[in-house]
Amino acid sequence: MSRLFNKHIIVAISGGIAAYKSAELVRLLKTAGAQVEVVMTRGAIEFITPLTLQALSGNPVHQHLLDPAAEAGMGHIQLARWADAILVAPCTAQVMARLAQGQADDLLSTLCLATQAPVLLAPAMNQAMWNDPATQANAQLLIERGLTLLGPDVGEQACGDVGPGRMLEPGQLVIELEQIFSSHAWQGRKVVITAGPTREAIDPVRYLSNHSSGKMGYALAQAAVEAGAQVHLISGPTNLPTPIDLQCTQVQSARDMLSACQNACQDADIFIASAAVADYRPAEKAEQKIKKTGAKSGFSLELVQNPDILATIAADFPRLTCVGFAAETQQLVAHAQAKLKRKQVAMIIANDVSEPGIGFNSDENQVCLVTAEGAKQLPRLPKTQLARQLINHIAQLDK
Ligand code: CTP
Repeated sequence: MSRLFNKHIIVAISGGIAAYKSAELVRLLKTAGAQVEVVMTRGAIEFITPLTLQALSGNPVHQHLLDPAAEAGMGHIQLARWADAILVAPCTAQVMARLAQGQADDLLSTLCLATQAPVLLAPAMNQAMWNDPATQANAQLLIERGLTLLGPDVGEQACGDVGPGRMLEPGQLVIELEQIFSSHAWQGRKVVITAGPTREAIDPVRYLSNHSSGKMGYALAQAAVEAGAQVHLISGPTNLPTPIDLQCTQVQSARDMLSACQNACQDADIFIASAAVADYRPAEKAEQKIKKTGAKSGFSLELVQNPDILATIAADFPRLTCVGFAAETQQLVAHAQAKLKRKQVAMIIANDVSEPGIGFNSDENQVCLVTAEGAKQLPRLPKTQLARQLINHIAQLDK
């Protein structure tokens, strides 16, 4: 399966003759399983119709920065956050100049400025324009700022010239784009990740649990695979499809999760506890379904504390780099610092679960990384993108 499967890709098309090749680019990305949104500049629609790109991407094309209909749906900031990557193809000399200046005067340039995702440019222009010192200086500046230039290719140009300035072929752009989703930050590392809720049985039909969706842990597992790690995901019950290219063990209770972790961590390098483990379980599991006959006005359940999986693993495997999460509703950093010490781990990823739209069950999250060195706030991001950033931060701990 392609690394682009399910990735959110914005294809931004600017006004050059190579725009006709962007149709094939979008088709190839869709074939690879990516979700594609297309942005076109005014110049681009002189070369190719939005209808073509709409048909190929399966989504209406975004053309205007201040379009009330679009802003009511997926507005420009939301679109910038949605993207796992933005590929500007073709990228004209003028777009390069505007990006180098940090302008935000149309949708394409605003998205490139507003996104946290990687921005890749596929320059396409006449060879003299590419070789011009102004374009070369812009290219240099954009690379220094972290944008990636794909190409240009050398060869015959639409204007009859021969030289550098041809846009890379769509198939090559797809291969290059796949590369950004396969870093080598964790090449050869063995990683164990817990995810989802646990279920603590009351009787054969009832249990105690919580609202964890598992999305953060699954996104981390996927990002760890993409970073080259050998991943063992130990998951409580979720509705999520199992990520590809990893080992997954499904468990129910906290005690099952602990014993699966103890087995999996024997030869692991990194342990990430993202599961929302039930802190308590019923003292006894009734063998038969508990009937309400007999109980007059109420029913009480005796609970006992579950083992702390993260603290146990950190104590049992002192050479493992252990990372935990902290779901808090107040005093985020102070509580996370206390957990860091109490559980003896290298990092706590703290998030405020009282904030609407982030944390439990949502697609976005905003976290603060707490280590012995201090606290670092990360921007609000889709969990898939945040996971990739977290992998890079944890890789720094694991050196
Ligand atoms: N954790 C764990 N086992 C538990 C409880 C928590 O492994 N029995 C892990 C979680 O996966 C998370 C971290 O510990 O990485 C912190 O979880 P959290 O629920 O925020 O903290 P608790 O330790 O349960 O403390 P409290 O509920 O008092 O905030």
